[in-house]
Order: sequence, then structure tokens, then C-alpha cells
Amino acid sequence: MNGNLIDCRFLTKSAVKTIVKKAEEYKSKFMNGALIPEFPGKTVFNLFLEPSTRTRCSFEMAAKRLGMMPINIYGSFSSITKGETLEDTILNLSKMHPSAFVIRHQSSGICYRLAEVTDIPIINAGDGTHAHPSQALLDLFTILEKKRRIEGLNISIIGDILSSRVARSDAELFVKMGCNVTLFGPATMLPDYPFVSNTKIAGSMEEAIADKDVIVLLRIQLERKSGGNISSLGEYHRYFGIKKELLKKKTLILHPGPFNRGVELSSDIVDSDNTEIFNQVENGVFVRMAIFWWLLNRQSAS
Ligand code: CP
Repeated sequence: MNGNLIDCRFLTKSAVKTIVKKAEEYKSKFMNGALIPEFPGKTVFNLFLEPSTRTRCSFEMAAKRLGMMPINIYGSFSSITKGETLEDTILNLSKMHPSAFVIRHQSSGICYRLAEVTDIPIINAGDGTHAHPSQALLDLFTILEKKRRIEGLNISIIGDILSSRVARSDAELFVKMGCNVTLFGPATMLPDYPFVSNTKIAGSMEEAIADKDVIVLLRIQLERKSGGNISSLGEYHRYFGIKKELLKKKTLILHPGPFNRGVELSSDIVDSDNTEIFNQVENGVFVRMAIFWWLLNRQSAS
């Protein structure tokens, strides 16, 4: 398990700080025009078996900035369409000696299964409703960059909590780093069991927003049949959508994307000073470079 990044539960605080510090270093170097080809010739297989824009491009960009050779595999063009199992695909590709696999898949927990069939490090790029650790790390990085601290911050995560791997990974990481985490959304989208320890569920939108340093918004996961949990997208916006007039000046708005204007947030939020949405995308590349660095160094040390 140590050579992988599958969810945030097994990340130590020290590992989180190491990755964040390295990402800061990479960002600073890149913004000053430096080239950072630290891992020339290392290959990474990016297997995206569920749609993605940000995560897929960000991992590919991160690998290229480090001088690595990313090889992209898409489900519809792979031999999975001929009946090969994903386990056998990983077994075969492992024999080409890549340095890492980056995997996006609709099945929760699939990366744990794949880690049993290969010794090559696996990076979970989002599996079903389970986890999205690189998103949580880049969210943390973005908050730290703006607030200059993380411990003691009040953070709300609002939306389709039950279906969201980002909600789970963000909550796990933020709690680990000492934040007070509140969850909110329609009752049909909230867990009625302990979702992540030491989080609380707000009783109203006012409570979810009040005195928050950061609000993470989530889209409704229509591809996971979440549409049946609300009466309509318009109704959702009316009761759970964030509008500019509800926010305090210093509240940061994060969203993992893709966002839907007029549903979980009004369009003026996207263009406001509160939003960190595009900074998240920018920072994602530096954080994923740091994740590669962290895993490849651990691999060579073992
Ligand atoms: N944040 C995120 O996972 O976006 P994509 O689905 O576009 O990768």
C-alpha cells in the first residue's frame, strides 16, 4: 500500500506537507521560467476508463513537465473491449516496466484490487464514489496558498455528498490537517451514517455558509443516477445553489469541476473574486508533479 496513492486515509500529515512543499517549489520554479525535467525517460500509463478533462490533462502535463513519457490508454481503444479484464491489462502493461499507473474508473475500490496484481505504483485519479486523492491535495494546496494556514479553518462541502469521491477525499484530508468540516446538501444526498469521522452535517443552508473560510461546491452526479434524488435542477439551484449575495467577501469558493452554472452556483460566482476554481486547475499540475516525485523517490528508495 505504501507505494501507491489510492485514498487520503493512508497519507500521513508529514507526507501531505512534503507533497505540498514540493508542489510549491515546482510552481515557483515554473513561474520563474525554469525547466524541471527531473525524470527523463520514465514512463507512466494513464488509464482513463471514465470521462475526464482536468485530471487526465493535468497528469499528462505534470508528467511531461518532469520529462516523463505519459502513454494514454482509453477504454474504447483498449483490449478491454475484447473482454480482457482490467487486472490482466495491468499485469501485461506492468511487464513494460512503467514507473506508475494513473487510473480513473467508475468502480469504487478498483485501485486496491489492481494494487494486488502489480508492484508498480498506482495513483487513483478517481474511482467511483470512493476517492480522488490528487484532487484533495490540490484543493488543500490552493486553500493554503490563499489563506497561508490550514489548521482551524472552517470548511463546508455542499452538494451531492453521497455520490462524491471528492467530498470523501476532501473531508478526510481537511480533517486530518485540523480543519472543521461541515457537510450539507439535500437530505437525499447526505449520508445517514458516519461518512468521514469528525465531520458534522449542517441543519440549513444558512448554517452551512455562515462563518466559513472555504466552501467546496459539488455538482450533481447525473451519471451516477443522482438526478432521481432531487425534483429538478432549477429547484436545486433555488435551495442549494450558491449565489454571490450569500457570501462574505473573504469566503473562498472551490469546485473540482466540471461546474454547472445556474445549478450548484450562479454564473456571477464563477467570475467573482471569491472563486478559486481556475487556480485549482492551475495548481493541479504542480501538485501532480509533486505526487510523481514523491512516489518515484519512494520507489527508488525501496
Ligand atoms: N476534477 C475532476 O476530476 O475533473 P475531471 O472529471 O474533468 O477530471
